[in-house]
Amino acid sequence: MYLGIDIGTSSVKTVLFGRDQRLLAQASEPLTVQRPRPGWSEQDPEAWWAAVLATIDAIARQHSLAALRGIGLSGQMHGAVCLDHDDRLLRPAILWNDGRAMAECAELEAACPRSREIAGNIAMPGFTAPKILWLRKHEPEIFADIDTVLLPKDYVRFRLTGHHVSDMSDASGTLWLDVGARDWSDDLLEATGLTRAHMPRLVEGSAPSGDLLPELASRWSIPGPVVVAGGAGDNAAAACGVGVTTPGDAFISLGTSGVLFVSNARFSPNTDGAVHAFAHAIPDTWHQMGVILSASDSLEWLSRVAGRKPAELASAVSLEAGPSRVTFLPHLSGERTPHNDAAARGAFIGLAQSTGLADLTQAVMEGVAYAFADCQRVLADAGTDFASALAVGGGARSEAWLRIIASVLDRPIEIAADADVGAALGAARLAICAAEGATPAEICAAPEILRAIEPEASLVTRYREGHAHYRALYPALKET
Ligand code: XUL
Repeated sequence: MYLGIDIGTSSVKTVLFGRDQRLLAQASEPLTVQRPRPGWSEQDPEAWWAAVLATIDAIARQHSLAALRGIGLSGQMHGAVCLDHDDRLLRPAILWNDGRAMAECAELEAACPRSREIAGNIAMPGFTAPKILWLRKHEPEIFADIDTVLLPKDYVRFRLTGHHVSDMSDASGTLWLDVGARDWSDDLLEATGLTRAHMPRLVEGSAPSGDLLPELASRWSIPGPVVVAGGAGDNAAAACGVGVTTPGDAFISLGTSGVLFVSNARFSPNTDGAVHAFAHAIPDTWHQMGVILSASDSLEWLSRVAGRKPAELASAVSLEAGPSRVTFLPHLSGERTPHNDAAARGAFIGLAQSTGLADLTQAVMEGVAYAFADCQRVLADAGTDFASALAVGGGARSEAWLRIIASVLDRPIEIAADADVGAALGAARLAICAAEGATPAEICAAPEILRAIEPEASLVTRYREGHAHYRALYPALKET
């Protein structure tokens, strides 16, 4: 049997699967995000580790782990975990949705003029490397003590195995990787005052990275050995979980962040449109993503303000009257694709006396859908199209939201059974590959598609106009 552990931003989710990929048990533990200043976002890596232990303890109470052969890791990408010479944490991790390192992005690109070419990505404040430049400037005593920089799931791996290792997909989000060559770039590292010696060893997501430490194996009464796979960043892991591994396959994720993910046969950057071009968790495969920073998080925000649950808000949206008269910009935490602007902020435009909570909710859902349409546009500019996309993530439970997205993108959106455990399942699948030498193609099958939500002709036309209006708002508001 195999464990998949997903270190999310709002929770750690752990799942136990049999070799036949049947779900045997699952557990999750909530996490909180600390925001010490506006635009900052941090978590204590010890909280991830405590949550991982709690979820595995809970699973061990539900099901014997004696036959455990492998563990796969997935996690929120880009976070900077800084360790000293004795592997002690130097400070809280700075997360993927932290916007403090905007100035350092320009400095990094100036220090390494080929950075976009090597990394395949624009330097964005969410990525790991600019955060380290920020530390060098603002917390020099911490920078001086850095011995190793790890990503969130790789810190958990360190606690599980004692090894410093990362995988190609997650390493792509550091901006230190030569993504085409699948190796660290000395030039990019030098631009942030680091060297290869500060980096973890690299493995493919489906390859072994080390064995579970004996004291942990005995905590859960596992005779072992238990292989820990390279694993993947949460998006590449979700792709493995829903079988999005062959070129042209796509999924759309409505999690805290929103992701439009397409698999590619080769490294295909489009830095002009702020497309992310990363290595996939599978050897010789890459992927592109458009990433928006607040997807379900936008609805969460409205639900906090309204004092109602997100599902309750979503269920009041009917689409009977067509698109909302209100337009929402979802840039509550700044934006990556296509604007790359950490200072961008959200907006409601078109409010009237008659505007009610259901109109605002519909506008939020539509604003997120328009942001996905922007991602679709810049992926198309990079030569990438997709025939349909599978919906994953918590927001995918809202039928109205998926109808809106299908019509805004003018593509069928597919609904699968169990899309919720996507990233953790993908991680467990990578563990099967690592422990048994199985190929990802055999193991990462597509799920059963329950149904597809088709674009609705009447909505497609009106949403096309709505998207044009939406696109005009960001530059206009930026002006002011
Ligand atoms: C991807 C990204 C997010 C995080 C958080 O580039 O920043 O999807 O991985 O889940």
